[in-house]
Amino acid sequence: MRLDLALVGFGHVGRRFVRLAAEIENRLQAEHDLTLRIVGIATGRHGVAFDDHGLDAAGAAAIVERGEALSRLDRSGAQLSSGVELIERFARPPRAGGAGRVVIETTPLDVQRARPAIDHIRAALGAGIDVVTANKGPVAIAWRELRDLAAARDASFLFEGAVMDGIPIFNLLRETLPGVRVTGFRGVVNSTTNHILTMLEDGGEFEPALAEMQQAGVAEADPGLDVDGWDAAAKAAALANVLMDAGITPADVERTGIRGVSGDRVRAAVARGHRIRLVASAARDRGPVAARVRPEELPAGDPLAILRGMANALVLRTDLLGEIAVTQLAGGLTQTAYALVTDLVTVARRRQSR
Ligand SMILES: NC(=O)c1ccc[n+]([C@@H]2O[C@H](COP(=O)([O-])OP(=O)(O)OC[C@H]3O[C@@H](n4cnc5c(N)ncnc54)[C@H](OP(=O)(O)O)[C@@H]3O)[C@@H](O)[C@H]2O)c1
Repeated sequence: MRLDLALVGFGHVGRRFVRLAAEIENRLQAEHDLTLRIVGIATGRHGVAFDDHGLDAAGAAAIVERGEALSRLDRSGAQLSSGVELIERFARPPRAGGAGRVVIETTPLDVQRARPAIDHIRAALGAGIDVVTANKGPVAIAWRELRDLAAARDASFLFEGAVMDGIPIFNLLRETLPGVRVTGFRGVVNSTTNHILTMLEDGGEFEPALAEMQQAGVAEADPGLDVDGWDAAAKAAALANVLMDAGITPADVERTGIRGVSGDRVRAAVARGHRIRLVASAARDRGPVAARVRPEELPAGDPLAILRGMANALVLRTDLLGEIAVTQLAGGLTQTAYALVTDLVTVARRRQSR
């Protein structure tokens, strides 16, 4: 099966994705009968390109990295200038015998309104096009609406990369634990703040540690979203919405970031045999789900305390299996790009089984 892809957002995640897809092209073909072809790319400041016969994705990544515009690759015959325009062009009826079509949404996180990501996802799902995203904003803010829209149009809306990079959380519950109910969770879900806290433990400074995460392309475009706990709050809302049907937004998550956490405080905790970690949690005790993000001092044996650098973990509380801890010791861009690939394999499987 061939999937034609329109990439809306082509930053660190989008470009790592196209390179990873090329690296594992043979595996996807041999093991999943899956061929991926990129036909459209939309960015914010680097233009839009569409070519029904396939774009040179590696060339497009190099163009963007040189700071140039993608428009020179465009064969749409129209001057496309936004993600929504690209999706409308992509949604035109394909030629007979055409491939499946998927929009991959990786624009920056907006924790207040999830724009423009929600507009892109609505446009795609509304046209019956499957959507895969690493952007947690839409799941944190409009999960029920987008889930219902996807179901009404018989399309997939998948977002494994939105939380804990490549580690399967949503897939784990959906595919592997049928009938299990999640009653709560606690986790370390933001790599940038965990790296900063680890560096402080080791005697380092806050700002250089943050700069390292920006350099690695792991920090949010606005790193204040990491430091002030907004990214973790968005992930907590996304997890609570999907796993617990919470119906909350990031603004409903009680939130304290790590801006006020000094190196002295972190090292004093270590001296006591403890670790400070930014913990995102949620629980439902009869009433609505309550979620929060805050720095917590944890005993050294806690599964969240052992996480260093970009490691993430989530402890799920379930009704049938007790507590399940899922740990990613090495997170990063490749893992997030891989999560997009896993969602594409799910899309292909669903299409094959229809
Ligand atoms: N980086 C990570 O490790 C990671 C991990 C998990 C999830 N995520 C999520 O993945 C998403 C992308 O992250 P990233 O690190 O790739 O961000 P990024 O490097 O800042 O890239 C964002 C991309 O979106 C484009 N864009 C901005 N506004 C747009 C618009 N209105 N229409 C179309 N494209 C637009 C940007 O284009 P210009 O550059 O031309 O403006 C850029 O290509 C975010 O939602 C993030 O939360 C990231």
